[in-house]
Amino acid sequence: MEPLKDTLQTLQDEALRRIESAADAIALESLRVEYLGRKEGRLTQILRSLAQLSADEKKAIGQQSNQVKGLLEEALTRKQESIEKEKIDLSLKTSLDLTLPATPWMRGKCHPLTQVMDDIVSVFTRLGFNIAEGPEVETDFNNFTALNHPPDHPARDSHDTFYVKDFKDGANVPLLMRTHTSPVQVRYMTTHKPPVYIVSPGRVFRHEAVDATHSYVFHQVEGLAIDTDISLADLKGVLSLFAKSLFGGDGGIRFRPSYFPFVEPGIEVDISCTLCQGKGCSVCKNTGWIEMLGAGLVNPKVLRTVGYDPEQVSGYAFGIGAERVAMFKYGINDIRLFYENDLRFLKQF
Ligand code: DAH
Repeated sequence: MEPLKDTLQTLQDEALRRIESAADAIALESLRVEYLGRKEGRLTQILRSLAQLSADEKKAIGQQSNQVKGLLEEALTRKQESIEKEKIDLSLKTSLDLTLPATPWMRGKCHPLTQVMDDIVSVFTRLGFNIAEGPEVETDFNNFTALNHPPDHPARDSHDTFYVKDFKDGANVPLLMRTHTSPVQVRYMTTHKPPVYIVSPGRVFRHEAVDATHSYVFHQVEGLAIDTDISLADLKGVLSLFAKSLFGGDGGIRFRPSYFPFVEPGIEVDISCTLCQGKGCSVCKNTGWIEMLGAGLVNPKVLRTVGYDPEQVSGYAFGIGAERVAMFKYGINDIRLFYENDLRFLKQF
């Protein structure tokens, strides 16, 4: 009979060879059972037969068997790992290419006009102003009369108003789409006592032909401050901060006399052109200034209409056109781009 030593060696060589060439995980598992299985395993059986050997032989063969067992276990593990790796490699090759760009993950964001309005509003809320909003369908009284545009006032003509067909207010006067955010001043003052510090962002409507600088729907942010001892200097301070926050630069602004029935004096506010630092360029038409908004000190007539005493309180108001701010800030020369919602345009903000 072949010495056990040689039998073990042959078994080892054969097992290692077969493990190495096993085709898959199932074949590998059956080899493990065949050689190392606890009951019928071929190595297990050899170990069982040690009982008949002398002490010396037992020791030598015992050591050798343990070595063989160790080698086979190692080989089985190694082969199992390589089978798994092959499997992964294959699936990567056939189904998943990690070098391909990932599926784009689209993030929603605010429309540029919303962003600009938020920026404007936050300049003022940081100063302690509250946000007050009003409805888009307004009464003639709030939109015009209370703002010192009596029914026959010519300034009404400058607001090409949309009327809401068949809908009238309590005084049987047709309702309208608000032509500016100024009526929120009236709503707020008639329901709150001074001091008042509010900003009102919102949508306004005018019956205008659409072109590069006009739209029949646009956006404004109204501001109103009523307190004791308010002057044009306070207005200049907050608007200068507004200009600096929105456009950078040194916050240079200038006031020009103008006319709005609900303020006296009425002014138009220019900001120093930040594209040329006031030196003059094509955008500011070589003036160094950009017309930005209307403002003024609240007309005492308006204060009286809402029940305030102009001897006790005074205030300023301003109306900022959001489109105008956004167009200057981002160098946009056609207002229609804001409403077409072309993603190539919107994605840039
Ligand atoms: N409401 C005016 C408009 O739409 C803008 C405006 C001018 C608002 C002067 C004001 C202001 O509050 O004081 O043309």
